[in-house]
Amino acid sequence: MLRTIPIEKELTDALVSILDPILLDQLELYNHVKTAHWNLRDANFLVVHRFLDEVAAVVNESGDIIAERIRQLGASVDAPSKRFSVEERLKPFPSAELDAEAALTGLCESFSGSIKGIRMGIERTTEGVTEEPVTNDILVAIATEYEKLLWMLNSHRTK
Ligand SMILES: [Fe+2]
Repeated sequence: MLRTIPIEKELTDALVSILDPILLDQLELYNHVKTAHWNLRDANFLVVHRFLDEVAAVVNESGDIIAERIRQLGASVDAPSKRFSVEERLKPFPSAELDAEAALTGLCESFSGSIKGIRMGIERTTEGVTEEPVTNDILVAIATEYEKLLWMLNSHRTK
């Protein structure tokens, strides 16, 4: 397999095993945000519906960045075919019609779960045998975006 990054295979393998469940979380989170965007029914429909599409675009881009980092590390992207039952941090999202409060509350929970996983990845790439600054930087950048989004989602709630 072609390797272009000058770091040991042992480390790249370990980094991929850190990134795989995080990628799966982002694919799942994207589904949650789009489901909320579609199933929303509320007096403030248009504002929240449009906002959720902006959120979905950020999540989609973040998943793309993680998947492409996996490729840069020399592995193929196969997270979607795997089950990370122990590490999955997102609860199932409701499939029924939701008002804005319920949709936003559910998404805040989903974002918290995803951020928890990303922060675990940040910790593992900050020091120890899986320390690696570039992957760490990528995860910190995504956490920065997500923690802002979590604050924005929460700020749309009224309760
Ligand atoms: Fe749409």
